Amino acid sequence: MHFLSVILIASVLLCAHNVQAYRFLGVLHSRIKSHNIVGTALLKELARRGHSVTVISPFPLKKPMDNYVDIETYKLSPIDSAGGHILQSPASSLAESVLIFQAMGLNMTRTFLEESNVKALLASNQTFDAVICEVFLAEALYGLSEHYNVPLIGLSTFGAHAWNTDMVGSPSPPSYVPSVFLSFNARMTLWQRAINFVFGIFERMSLDLYYLPKQAAIYKEYFPNNKRDMYEVRRNAALVLLNQHVSLSFSRPYVHNQIEVGGMHINRTRSPLPADLERFINGANHGVIYFSMGSYLRSEFMSLDKRQAILETFRGLKQRVLWKFENPKLEGKPDNVYISEWFPQSDILAHPNVKFFITHGGLLGTTESIYHGKPFIGIPIFADQFLNMNRAETGGYGIGVDYNGLTKEKFQSAIERMLNDESYTKRVADISAQYRDQPMNPLDLAVYWVEYVVRHKGARHLHCAGQDLSFIQYHSIDSMLIIFGGLTSVLLLILLLIRSVWGWLQFVLARKDIKKKTH
Ligand SMILES: *[C@@H]1O[C@H](CO)[C@@H](O)[C@H](O)[C@H]1NC(C)=O
Ligand SMILES: *[C@@H]1O[C@H](CO)[C@@H](O)[C@H](O)[C@H]1NC(C)=O
Ligand SMILES: *[C@@H]1O[C@H](CO)[C@@H](O)[C@H](O)[C@H]1NC(C)=O
Repeated sequence: MHFLSVILIASVLLCAHNVQAYRFLGVLHSRIKSHNIVGTALLKELARRGHSVTVISPFPLKKPMDNYVDIETYKLSPIDSAGGHILQSPASSLAESVLIFQAMGLNMTRTFLEESNVKALLASNQTFDAVICEVFLAEALYGLSEHYNVPLIGLSTFGAHAWNTDMVGSPSPPSYVPSVFLSFNARMTLWQRAINFVFGIFERMSLDLYYLPKQAAIYKEYFPNNKRDMYEVRRNAALVLLNQHVSLSFSRPYVHNQIEVGGMHINRTRSPLPADLERFINGANHGVIYFSMGSYLRSEFMSLDKRQAILETFRGLKQRVLWKFENPKLEGKPDNVYISEWFPQSDILAHPNVKFFITHGGLLGTTESIYHGKPFIGIPIFADQFLNMNRAETGGYGIGVDYNGLTKEKFQSAIERMLNDESYTKRVADISAQYRDQPMNPLDLAVYWVEYVVRHKGARHLHCAGQDLSFIQYHSIDSMLIIFGGLTSVLLLILLLIRSVWGWLQFVLARKDIKKKTH
């Protein structure tokens, strides 16, 4: 009897599970590993909960899992050593870096759609319940959602930007929402607001007049049978998830279908460290510093004098150092330095004997560091790393070091400041507490909203009406014209009335005059 009821409950649970299983197509086209980590965190969780997930990506899973099918993009090979190129030829201006980004995006989009695996998928009769597409310079790929006639869910690997706010209609007034390309805080000076305003117009025009028309042309070429064009699909996204959180940035407006899920890639359960690593960390009487520049700054691209400066700085420390370094033969490695080409970063940062993190300032690493309550020294190289470091410095939980001017003196002084001034650790503890205090963990929140969209057939009720207005309607220019026109007409009418009354009076008075004279 008991056995039977267990079977009964199990089958009921299984049925309930089956009823809710949806089919998702994940489109993670970016070749940048950290972008991919955010996307796979969500898609793996969906698969774990019994949904069937198909993912097109240049980074297939190392360990295959149930319900998760990888479609590899061979032509879109991963960028591992991006740092090398960027360090050798940095963009000379902000405007140039925007244009470089856009050119890269157009190339990436076309390369993706030329993949034989992608073409085969499109030609097959496979169907899906929603398309989850990374929002990163590949707008033509939103055509996949129209191709399958299902809701489009955008997943942004960083914070709010026109690339993703355009999809749902979140307003970004330039007076208090700085562009992610500028390293300003929300409270800008008049001069910064002016720069932000002009840069916003430049970005808007380069998007609307140059970049988006090119994406729309690619869309037309590869999705000739789609009913709606790219612009319409893009401004009708059902949901956009952002890898950001107000505790890590600043308060700004969002419409209801734009949700912050920053740090959802962080595993909330700690795993034990490998034994030798655990021994090394526990044996450090003065604590441990963890140093990793992510996949960007590979040792082969670092000039010898910089490497020497870093090595000499570490040699003089009482602390032990973990350094993510690809070459196992590091000449003159001091005994207090442990090198490895890979470290379980989150679990290291979680260790109480780890004092702080030296990072390139990427969003994933800095979020992990804040989550674990560790301050950081950042050596930003490109993109939003400068912004992240600027925020950390202003917030008092980070110190920025310039890569080009890196010397032993500067590096050492930053490390000493971090070791001797307790305010950095105190400050990051506050931010960490604010970040952790959420009604739901970000990964559960992301899954909730993704399922919500499918459950409610695209959740059209969340769609902001502002998305369907023209520029003139949105900015109330037509209303203002009506009001202005109306007021002007009333004024004219009054003037006319006064004039005719005046004329009539004069006429009457003149007649009286004539009558008087004739009498
Ligand atoms: C993308 O750029 C690479 C390198 O410049 C080039 O070889 C390739 O042909 C480009 N692909 C497309 C589809 O434009
Ligand atoms: C889809 O294609 C497969 C293999 O090409 C075929 O076996 C299956 O019957 C097709 N299903 C539908 C619904 O057309
Ligand atoms: C998090 O880590 C735990 C412990 O290693 C593991 O069992 C679990 O699968 C991980 N969760 C995710 C979402 O990766």
